[in-house]
Amino acid sequence: MDIVLSGIRPTGNLHLGNYFGALRNFTKMQHENTCYFFIADYHSLTTHPTPEHLQDNVKQVLVEYLAAGLDPEVATIYVQSDLPQTAELYLFLNMNAYKGELERVTTFKEKAKKQPNNINAGLLTYPALMAADILIHRAHKVPVGKDQEQHLEMTRTFANRFNRLYKVDYFPEPVAYNFGEELIKIPGLDGSGKMGKSEGEGNAIFLADEPAVIRKKVMRAVSDAGPTEKNSVKPEPIRNLFLLMQAVSSADTVAYFEEKYNACEIRYGDMKKQLAEDIIIFTEPIRERVKELSADEAYIKKVMEMGKEKAIASGGKTVKEVREIIGFRP
Ligand code: TRP
Repeated sequence: MDIVLSGIRPTGNLHLGNYFGALRNFTKMQHENTCYFFIADYHSLTTHPTPEHLQDNVKQVLVEYLAAGLDPEVATIYVQSDLPQTAELYLFLNMNAYKGELERVTTFKEKAKKQPNNINAGLLTYPALMAADILIHRAHKVPVGKDQEQHLEMTRTFANRFNRLYKVDYFPEPVAYNFGEELIKIPGLDGSGKMGKSEGEGNAIFLADEPAVIRKKVMRAVSDAGPTEKNSVKPEPIRNLFLLMQAVSSADTVAYFEEKYNACEIRYGDMKKQLAEDIIIFTEPIRERVKELSADEAYIKKVMEMGKEKAIASGGKTVKEVREIIGFRP
């Protein structure tokens, strides 16, 4: 069985885009592989969160992953800082990570531009920490988006460099896990691009949004005056509404509005009302489960403990072996 690992930045609430982009596939994947899902709280220090925020965000993300269907009895779900051996492997990898290659990383350049007064060493060595996350479980596959491919490439570089330096065949070369056609890209409600929380208020539907909020956001989604010619090509905002509908509504519903569109009889108000109700129905089980879990501190704690134990069993063994390969006293 392949070892699959995914890291999640604890940046607050998950939205429908996260669900269709990753979460939904994770819930299937966990049964076909040995999976590690962890919440990257060390990574979040690169942007200096306050202590209160750090813990709240970790809990929120954990709850939402569980609500969406990740099973802590099947997969290993843990908090990165509960596996402090990660920091030791990060230290070792940093000794063979070079300033030049780290400075060339796109995400580093972007972050440096965004926070010019906080270009800390953690930001520069972010790829080494991410490599430590992956290599600590000697993972084979890592589901990542386009923006993380360069980091994964660096992980392979660090793994190979380690193997070469110590003349061992210890770390496997992790590759990107592609979900292929199952991956659905969810557009945002602002008429362009993708769903994301940084794209502005109202662009994203969060899994925990209450029905009233969902209705309000969908009704405000960008549309236009409607087609003037039969069977015309849909402009982007309209295409996006249909894409969203395809994700959450029945095929009949989509076909109905397609027909109306093609006949120039579509009323976007009606379409949005239907879309909002279908999103509400679709997200209901997750929303309810989020509420239940959020109130169950004991269960959350148990899940974290369970994850910690399994993560240390795997990661602790790796770091012990790495120490010996490097030449530390066993
Ligand atoms: N860098 C990833 C992101 O921004 C999060 C992450 C940290 C990660 N460590 C990882 C992802 C290891 C995959 C594997 O989304």
